[in-house]
Amino acid sequence: KSSLPDVKERTLIAVKPDGVQRRFIGQIIQRFEQRGFKLVGLKMLQASEDLLSQHYSELRTKPFYPRLLKYMSSGPVVVMVWEGHKVVQTSRTMVGHTNPAEALAGTIRGDFSFHVSRNVIHASDSEEGAQREIQLWFKGRELLNWDCCDQSLTL
Ligand code: TYD
Ligand code: MG
Repeated sequence: KSSLPDVKERTLIAVKPDGVQRRFIGQIIQRFEQRGFKLVGLKMLQASEDLLSQHYSELRTKPFYPRLLKYMSSGPVVVMVWEGHKVVQTSRTMVGHTNPAEALAGTIRGDFSFHVSRNVIHASDSEEGAQREIQLWFKGRELLNWDCCDQSLTL
């Protein structure tokens, strides 16, 4: 049983305000669904600078940090929790390089953006970071366990 892949790993994905304004929510959700991941939480909100300062606490000394918080709080974001085998690592690959100029075509940032200050999407960068961010953005009851057709990895 210990050789079974962990299909319960979770990550936090957010469509940033520019992604919402440019009508990319559907295309972004589609990419995670078609990859086979399971959506277990989803909401739209306009994040406060207080929430964002916790989300980006590791970056508070960076020169771009004030503008980052202003941008991220400027309009609604769509935050999601996706579940599946190695979803943290796989979603970082799907999202692409932080700087869209270096993001490969075929990645979300590589296909939808050109500047680091407007890079459309957030994805947790580690399993520990994902757990921290999920707890920050979601209450436990907002995350749903539901069974579906993704059981091929648990055979
Ligand atoms: P970071 O966590 O380093 O990147 P990622 O989103 O890929 O995990 O940085 C968080 C966000 O900060 C990044 O998505 C966009 C913004 N940012 C800038 O505006 N300028 C920069 O030079 C960097 C590194 C990030
Ligand atoms: Mg990051």
